[in-house]
Amino acid sequence: MEVFRIQGGSSLSGKVQVSGSKNASLPLFAACLLTSEECILENVPDLSDIRFMGEILSALGANVEKLGSGKWKIQASSIMPRAPYGLVRKMRASVCLLGPLVARLRRAEIPMPGGCVIGNRPIDLHIRALRGLGAEVELSGGTVKVNGRHLKGNSIFIGGRHGSTVTGTANAVMTACLSPGHTVLEGCACEPEITDLCRMLTSMGAQISGIGSHTLEIDGVKNLSGTHYTVIPDRIEAATYALAAAITGGEVSILGANCRHLGAFANLMNESGVELSESEKALKVALSKDGLRPIEAITLPYPGFPTDLQAQTCALACITDGLSILTERVYPSRFMHLPELMRMGASISLEGSSAIIRGVKRLNGAPVMASDLRASAALILAGLAAKGETWVQRVYHLDRGYDSFESKLNSMGASVERLTEEDLPKSFLQATDN
Ligand code: EPZ
Repeated sequence: MEVFRIQGGSSLSGKVQVSGSKNASLPLFAACLLTSEECILENVPDLSDIRFMGEILSALGANVEKLGSGKWKIQASSIMPRAPYGLVRKMRASVCLLGPLVARLRRAEIPMPGGCVIGNRPIDLHIRALRGLGAEVELSGGTVKVNGRHLKGNSIFIGGRHGSTVTGTANAVMTACLSPGHTVLEGCACEPEITDLCRMLTSMGAQISGIGSHTLEIDGVKNLSGTHYTVIPDRIEAATYALAAAITGGEVSILGANCRHLGAFANLMNESGVELSESEKALKVALSKDGLRPIEAITLPYPGFPTDLQAQTCALACITDGLSILTERVYPSRFMHLPELMRMGASISLEGSSAIIRGVKRLNGAPVMASDLRASAALILAGLAAKGETWVQRVYHLDRGYDSFESKLNSMGASVERLTEEDLPKSFLQATDN
């Protein structure tokens, strides 16, 4: 088990380079199964989830090779329809293998992705989309079995009561690309990661219109070709560094960020006293001279405020004078970070799916436990601002979605040390009764 030891109190400054998007790279890896030709992906982040997806594609029979920093070669000359339970159950995002396997092989068998700490993770919308395109879908023994012998274009609505589904849209689009006839998908997610997928599919010969909107129209083709494609920058990583600058009262430039992908977040930050401005392909972040103002945010599908930034924004609210309210509309129980922030002295109450946070002058360093990817980022941000030493345990959660997080933070003046079990000093063991 690895632990981060964070000495709080330094203001971040300087610049940091954003990596490629995790949530774009995962469906792009899956999309390589749609063709027997070679695909080259660039600007892929170095994350455990990416390596994991590569292992799953290899287990399906694809030839997967990391060519160098951020560059991968994937060729799915001949693949099998069944993904191994032991691998798939550990990463929910592997659900986006369903579409390409059904489209390419006309059948697929994927273990049902489990839930996770951020809440129930149903796949009813994925199934609705596949059935809408003529596939037979059976759920038995914890496995989704799909027979796509009679795939056919259709007009279907794929939105749900919590709004659109990102990986559900990815599955629907990838299946429709190789389904004969014309498909109209209404209620699509229009996250930048879906736009990136549609652009890569188009570069492979797919016929897609309406890219970037909630309605995608697709004319099925017989085959798709290989491609050489560069992944978009990670908007959640970029925003996390902006919040790290804000929570430490620092001033940083985030290089490579695509500011057009940060609309709702940038607006919320500007309303909360964090000034974001764009200059030569960089996002500049600084506190306004009047300081921070209480935050009011509701998470929504894109272009709304992203649920993947809720935890990190809660951390900022903890030291923002006044009463902030953050409401979760996408994953209503995505609040595992709150009890850990309270261990650091935060004043928070949870009313339904709203976190009511009264800002305190200062957080105090403490041993805390990461529960999921974005919660771990939130706890690290809180540690940067806290007085004294914070120990964040189970940082393997963080490694799923942030490339070189501690070295990037330290390059801006933070003091974050990654310790393995053997390195843990007595002070930590005493503080955590280990
Ligand atoms: C993607 O997950 C992201 N993951 C998540 O990021 C992100 O939080 C989420 O979209 C929402 O933006 C990847 O892209 C790999 P959804 P996904 O299907 O596609 C409900 C991170 O931290 N729903 O868009 O699995 C669902 O319960 C991760 O990087 C159904 O009801 O999420 C939720 O309330 C965490 N039925 C809402 O839709 C379905 O069939 C959005 O879920 C599917 C989803």
